[in-house]
Amino acid sequence: VCGRSSDGERAPASHAPPERAPEEPTPEPEVPEGFSRVCAADELADGEIAEFIVDDVPIALARIGDAHHAVGNTCPHAGGPLGDGLLEGTVVACPWHGWGFDVTTGVCALDPTLAVDVHPVRVEGGAVWVDVSGAAPT
Ligand code: FES
Repeated sequence: VCGRSSDGERAPASHAPPERAPEEPTPEPEVPEGFSRVCAADELADGEIAEFIVDDVPIALARIGDAHHAVGNTCPHAGGPLGDGLLEGTVVACPWHGWGFDVTTGVCALDPTLAVDVHPVRVEGGAVWVDVSGAAPT
């Protein structure tokens, strides 16, 4: 059994050709992998919620203090846009019929068996980033 690594040994740096060409451009360091930029970190005021489309997925992004929370924008009752609702504490009231959804858990206050998607959020480089890869198909 050969114990050598197939990588071989490094040649002296001054005369060595690059061992591997870069396969793709290096992403900007502040871009969290799997996340997409939504808006500037200061775009929403404390207590504000708004609708955004991220990678074709409609989300409702809420800011509570310095924390941001992202949930699916479409109310499971009849499709109302939660991002247009009124945020009180951690609960957004759907603008169509008033059902409340906790933006930290996605759970409906009226019927805990109902919930909207909750999407991971990060704040990096002065921007809010959301990962919508777990969004339920519509
Ligand atoms: S559509 Fe949201 S409560 Fe009816």
